Amino acid sequence: MDPWEGAELSALKPLPTLWLVLAAAFLLTLLLQLLPSGLLPSCALFQDLIRYGKTKSSGPPRPAAYRAFDVPKSRYFSHFYIISVLWNGLLLWCLTQSLFLGAPFPNWLHSLLRILGAAQFQGLLMSTQPGELSAAGGEPALSAFLVLVFLWLHSFRRLLECLYVSVFSKAMIHVVQYCFGMVYYILVGLTVLSQVPMDDRNVYIIGKSLLMQARWFHILGMLMFIWSSAHQYKCHVILSNLRKNKAGVVIHCNHRIPFGDWFEYVSCPNYLAELMIYISMAATFGFHNSTWWLVVTYVFFNQALSAFLSHKFYKSKFVSYPRHRKAFLPFLF
Ligand SMILES: NC(=O)c1ccc[n+]([C@@H]2O[C@H](COP(=O)([O-])OP(=O)(O)OC[C@H]3O[C@@H](n4cnc5c(N)ncnc54)[C@H](OP(=O)(O)O)[C@@H]3O)[C@@H](O)[C@H]2O)c1
Repeated sequence: MDPWEGAELSALKPLPTLWLVLAAAFLLTLLLQLLPSGLLPSCALFQDLIRYGKTKSSGPPRPAAYRAFDVPKSRYFSHFYIISVLWNGLLLWCLTQSLFLGAPFPNWLHSLLRILGAAQFQGLLMSTQPGELSAAGGEPALSAFLVLVFLWLHSFRRLLECLYVSVFSKAMIHVVQYCFGMVYYILVGLTVLSQVPMDDRNVYIIGKSLLMQARWFHILGMLMFIWSSAHQYKCHVILSNLRKNKAGVVIHCNHRIPFGDWFEYVSCPNYLAELMIYISMAATFGFHNSTWWLVVTYVFFNQALSAFLSHKFYKSKFVSYPRHRKAFLPFLF
């Protein structure tokens, strides 16, 4: 039997398992929200943990004690991206050093990836011939490198948006959601790095050079990434303009009905763009990386849940809310 096949069968890999569990948890939560309101679990803590921002204030009444666990979205949301820029910047630095200067991964990172059951430790090393590595399913290093660059650029843009574009209200997030968001960006970077083929502590480059690995799906992934990022930025500008006058001065912090760009189709186009960004990374991986598709599935259900709650918020607050507008997916959901 092919050694890679044996490894696939024998190991329950922590990272894919984690993404699968998270995706399933958010799918279940979404399905619960789709139940008729009489059947919906009324547990206040559960509702408190799935809502943030505008949907928190519009949710069921919250016991006063819950406020002790609130942190202001305005100041704390940018922390996710600060963590991501620093952590994923460090991972990118290690990968770049290894790819271009031949520097081995630091011991701590090598051990961490091993603990997380990274793909490179799941049997690739059992292959003895270089050619066997790609045949056995090793991810080209260029794909992982590009995805890590995209993740870093995405985090950096989001950080700049939080600091200079978005206008926040007094909305809150739960401290559990805050901690979850921090861990999320650490795990997502490690997931990308765990796809890089390794030969002990060095990155294994399949073929003669990194550039020789360039394929059509890298170009497609890059174009999709730019396109989705541009739309997400546009949507965040539209949202911030709702709170400004024509001179660009912030005049209130209320929630209004947004119009323009993808808002004509869905209530939360910024969440749809987020999903597209993660799909663009799946494209960059050549569409066949099952671990990354689990990350995409998690993002899908996570963002679909937030979009569903936001859509409900808009429909309950504004009688004139555009009827044709869906929550998350144009014409569908
Ligand atoms: N990958 C992931 O797992 C993940 C998870 C969460 C978020 N995200 C991404 O992070 C980005 C921001 O998420 P978010 O949940 O904060 O988005 P959001 O609720 O749409 O808020 C974005 C900004 O617009 C403001 N805003 C929202 N609705 C408004 C309205 N009707 N009128 C005026 N201003 C409004 C918000 O202020 P206030 O909320 O302060 O009122 C905030 O400043 C999104 O692009 C999302 O996709 C990703």
